[in-house]
Amino acid sequence: MKRILIIGGGAMGSAFSVPCIDNNHKVFITEPYSQRFIKNLSSKNKFHSGLKINLSKKLIFKKYSKELFLEKYDLIVVALSLTGMDFIAKQLKKFKVKSPILVLTKGLKYDKQNKHIITISQTLLKSIPKLNISVLKGPCLARELARKCQTSVIIANKNIKIAKLLGKIISTKYYLIEYSKDVVGVEICSAIKNIYSMIIGSGLRLNKSSSLFQKSLSEMKYITKQLNGKEDTVLTLAGVGDLYVSAAGGRNSKMGNYLGQGFTFKSAKKNFMANDTVEGEQLVREIAPYILKKFNSKKIPLMFQMIRAILKNKKFII
Ligand SMILES: NC(=O)c1ccc[n+]([C@@H]2O[C@H](COP(=O)([O-])OP(=O)(O)OC[C@H]3O[C@@H](n4cnc5c(N)ncnc54)[C@H](O)[C@@H]3O)[C@@H](O)[C@H]2O)c1
Repeated sequence: MKRILIIGGGAMGSAFSVPCIDNNHKVFITEPYSQRFIKNLSSKNKFHSGLKINLSKKLIFKKYSKELFLEKYDLIVVALSLTGMDFIAKQLKKFKVKSPILVLTKGLKYDKQNKHIITISQTLLKSIPKLNISVLKGPCLARELARKCQTSVIIANKNIKIAKLLGKIISTKYYLIEYSKDVVGVEICSAIKNIYSMIIGSGLRLNKSSSLFQKSLSEMKYITKQLNGKEDTVLTLAGVGDLYVSAAGGRNSKMGNYLGQGFTFKSAKKNFMANDTVEGEQLVREIAPYILKKFNSKKIPLMFQMIRAILKNKKFII
């Protein structure tokens, strides 16, 4: 039995507790930010408002505090959204955390100091260079995992043995794990698929969307290679696998759909998706200055059009 701490009681962090508990681990969950999730997780029946299910009574809710880090864990899982990453990097450093870390969060950051795009694992390592860090990505709708529907994901660590050890701890009959050494590639693919699923969503009909799907894969390969990941990683669960699920449904492709109908980004957001977080939009805003400066628009025309649509509020025409 392992002791696992999940930081982030949103949909994904909470769903992740399901296979861990099925494998008889002692699972703790904490929520540093949202009152709604704190209320859900500390309630008697543990009804999760995002997942719309009751979580296991075996899941132990811990208030977020410094005492949390005085205890020892075999694994700490980070499942906050991208906006929580700087916060958690500071916290892990402050409390000198030595446990292995597994990051579920998807996204990229722009490092203003070094004028480069960096991944989440690189952000954490910048703060704590010796951190033992792995990433887990892939096509996983939290609601499906929470209901034990078959889900396949990929764990990446430069040391594949560590990735496999983690896989052994968390895999179940319904939670299947693949492995990769290409940490950077896996992180890049799992982030930029949010932008490409908007692009595919703009196709409206299957014929056009299919051709956008193919063109998106080519651009994802190019970007992944330019940012020091491996091209082939685009063909793994972190790339094409995750792109498929995001393009088939979800908030990014929904926004893409409105753009395809001729709405500008601002009007679509205001009129139809005012309260929704569109992760692809957030990522565009984060990485666009770098992409516009360092990339050739002829190599990644779809990405350039999407940046124009979001930053300049121009119609998305392709
Ligand atoms: N690796 C995977 O298999 C997988 C699958 C689905 C989603 N995800 C990723 O997991 C992350 C969380 O997704 P979710 O569906 O649980 O979202 P959610 O909105 O349900 O939960 C977001 C979590 O982040 C926290 N948070 C938000 N803003 C914060 C801030 N400023 N500071 C600190 N914490 C903050 C929230 O309190 C909550 O715990 C996203 O990056 C998403 O892309 C990963």
